[in-house]
Amino acid sequence: MPPSLAVRLGSLEAKNPIFSASGTFGYGEEMEAFVDPGVYGGIIGKSISQLPRGGNPIPRVAETPAGMLNSIGLQNPGFEGFMKDYLPRMRDYGTVLVVNLVGDTIDEYVEMARRLNEEEAVDAIELNISCPNCPEGGMEFGIDPRATEILVGKVREVYKRPILAKLTPNVTDICSIASAAEQGGADILALVNTYLGIAVDWRARKTILPGVTGGMSGPAIKPLALRAVWSVARSSSLPILGMGGISSADDVLEFMAAGASAVQIGTIQFVRPKAVLEILSDLERYLSEMGVTDISEMVGTLHSDFVVR
Ligand SMILES: Cc1cc2nc3c(=O)[nH]c(=O)nc-3n(C[C@H](O)[C@H](O)[C@H](O)COP(=O)(O)O)c2cc1C
Repeated sequence: MPPSLAVRLGSLEAKNPIFSASGTFGYGEEMEAFVDPGVYGGIIGKSISQLPRGGNPIPRVAETPAGMLNSIGLQNPGFEGFMKDYLPRMRDYGTVLVVNLVGDTIDEYVEMARRLNEEEAVDAIELNISCPNCPEGGMEFGIDPRATEILVGKVREVYKRPILAKLTPNVTDICSIASAAEQGGADILALVNTYLGIAVDWRARKTILPGVTGGMSGPAIKPLALRAVWSVARSSSLPILGMGGISSADDVLEFMAAGASAVQIGTIQFVRPKAVLEILSDLERYLSEMGVTDISEMVGTLHSDFVVR
């Protein structure tokens, strides 16, 4: 019998631990030519804001060794556009559906969450309190424990299914933000969003991204993200959806050993859009070779006997 890849994150159950990360997959439709979105354990659409956003001026991405910087600026069709043009299609993918929300104000998050509470097809919401590329909202909430707790708490009042808080690593102590999200009533912690960085064209004496900074993602950030997941797993009792630079089944199992109950894959999908298929088949093979019958047995198994913080 093949090993079970099914995972549980609190009350959220998924057939396997691979979720597509917000912003790297559109709303599923961008991937359909490459892979059936239904093969993922769950899909998380690009962040939705209350009103449509056109995004930042181009160029919006800069390639870096083993990664990329992006400054998309949360281009999206707005809440009503999403509900009308994208959600109906996403409902039919036959996998866990998570809607990622971003707002300039707490009221904006709350209003969208209230509406989504009525949509039974939406299994969970992910609060993007970690976007590094928007002038207001986003990361402004996620770098302050008090603001994080208040925001999550207000959303909790109107949204009854699981709430994921997506954390930024651009803080001194991510565990204090994780704890604030837990206090506010989050069910799952999703981490990490991108790391702030800069790409420079020294000949032109200019930054490559017009907004100067961008969010760094891809394999280059994996050790940093693993450390964040490991730290939060030791300090919080909430389930973790880990991400940052994952590109293989080995990476997935590293994150799970460090304490993630499941993971998201993002940037690797721009390089290998079918990465999820390879990862799922390698996961089955590796677990069979190790004699592991249920992938959840791997969660939090990292030995820490010799760990000095
Ligand atoms: C082009 C691009 C766009 C992104 N857009 C969003 C977004 O809209 N909302 C969000 O919460 N995260 C967004 N992210 C962050 C990813 O979801 C993920 O947290 C990050 O890229 C780290 O994972 P990775 O290294 O596997 O890509 C974006 C990342 C990239 C590369």
